[in-house]
Amino acid sequence: MIPILELKTQYAEIREEVERAVCEVLSRTHYILGPEVAAFEKEFAEWNGAAYGIGCASGTDALVLALKAVGVKPGDEVIAPPFTFMATAGAVSSIGAQPVFCDIQPGSFNLDPAEIEKLITPRTKAIEVVHLYGHPADMDPILEIARKHHLKVVEDCAQATGATYHGKKVGTMGDAGAFSFFPSKNLGCAGDGGLVLTNNADVDERVRCLRGHGSRRKYFHDELGTNSRLDEVQAAVLRVKLRHLERWNEKRRAVAAKYSEHLKGFVTPPPVAPGCQHVFHQYTLRTTRRDEMMTYLNEKGVGAIIYYPLALHLQQVYAAMGHKLGDFPVTEKAQDEVLSLPMYPELNEGQIEQVVQTVKDFHSQPVQAG
Ligand SMILES: Cc1ncc(COP(=O)(O)O)c(C=O)c1O
Repeated sequence: MIPILELKTQYAEIREEVERAVCEVLSRTHYILGPEVAAFEKEFAEWNGAAYGIGCASGTDALVLALKAVGVKPGDEVIAPPFTFMATAGAVSSIGAQPVFCDIQPGSFNLDPAEIEKLITPRTKAIEVVHLYGHPADMDPILEIARKHHLKVVEDCAQATGATYHGKKVGTMGDAGAFSFFPSKNLGCAGDGGLVLTNNADVDERVRCLRGHGSRRKYFHDELGTNSRLDEVQAAVLRVKLRHLERWNEKRRAVAAKYSEHLKGFVTPPPVAPGCQHVFHQYTLRTTRRDEMMTYLNEKGVGAIIYYPLALHLQQVYAAMGHKLGDFPVTEKAQDEVLSLPMYPELNEGQIEQVVQTVKDFHSQPVQAG
């Protein structure tokens, strides 16, 4: 069996380093907002080339804090793709703001800059960009639209830690970037964790205030915030893993290159746009025989999963928005065709070969896909 994701091999590789770091935190007994979080915030910001990093409790909270800190308020509209994980739009809704869905680009899985402007209204406050599966969205035209219309840009980087767009790391191009350290992510901790990245001192200050109950001075509260902190144990784990991340992302790219080399002609491999460095949180291909192929792979012991089977505009939770099938044709085509294969840095040659061979076995002859 080759699972879609396996964390034990990686843990074995770094076990001594992680356990030493965690034990130090345990014996130090400074568990919340101590030296590990401060050091990780600084190291992660530097690693990405950003001025500030603010740890928080999850990627979802990072989105909420980032959106609030750039000024999104109840009643505001935020343009976001419907082809993403629920948290992208859920964060907007949880503030009392309105997600406004915008289709993705054909030949990509990210927001289509050509579709954004027609959705802008006097209530639009921000564009929420998702770098889905680890591939950067097309930031230049999106940033240009934002500048023209005085909109904020929040990057959902949950799946894309380390990905670059024309040399710039994701999360450093908009007003704020939100990261998730959920264990399955490219940089994952041993529980939940998240972080907001920004180059703006005011956004940094506001996120720090909001994550600690809206307080700038202990027991004095300026606005309604929340309790959302990265803890010391998680920060210690993340500091160890950050030192390996570049190498792990390279390995993911090497696995993806092998999959794509051997599978083109059978399926449509994931695209990589010029000037972009993909970090392959997922290796997500397209095929018109998706459901059949997933069943076959799973029966043969190869993990294969659909991220995501139902786009957000068609979810029950957003029924009141009144969307219907056909509203976002590019998203809906992706929803029907995507299939993710096993992807993690530790996949070995034999496993890659087995995945490739099983996909080839499924196709008795090459098919026109995509
Ligand atoms: C695109 C996207 N946004 C946001 C999140 C939320 O992150 P978390 O699970 O850490 O709250 C995720 C994580 O699954 C995600 O994939």
